[in-house]
Amino acid sequence: MIIKWRDEFSCYDKTIDEQHKKLIDLINEINDLTQYDDHIDRYDNIVEVFNELIEYSKYHFSHEEALFEEHGYDTFNTKVQIGQHKSFVDQVSAIDLNDLDENQSETLESILDFLSTWLEQHILGIDKKFGDFLREKHEKQL
Ligand SMILES: [Fe+2]
Repeated sequence: MIIKWRDEFSCYDKTIDEQHKKLIDLINEINDLTQYDDHIDRYDNIVEVFNELIEYSKYHFSHEEALFEEHGYDTFNTKVQIGQHKSFVDQVSAIDLNDLDENQSETLESILDFLSTWLEQHILGIDKKFGDFLREKHEKQL
């Protein structure tokens, strides 16, 4: 396991939390596939889960972005969020897994390091900010 869900990741929205957990699961699944020591080539499997991670990230980001609009999140933070989503999708889409033949494990290790660090920082930084906004909005309505 390279990244583990912690309570502090919670963003005051059940669906966002569930989706973050799913993203964490996918990153861990790729990591698990790199950990076997039995010389079976799991490369196709890794590519498959990696592509699933890209698709699921896009789905998750558009869910979040719809919520920004629905809840009237401010323009500045919405722009910063959308910018980070776009740059993440651009970066992971630019990763060419067919290019990994040499140093396969080292390259995968740095990709996994990037994915897990990015997700953790994104959730704890900017997603939680939106979570705080939702919480405040909810408390005002009580
Ligand atoms: Fe998110």
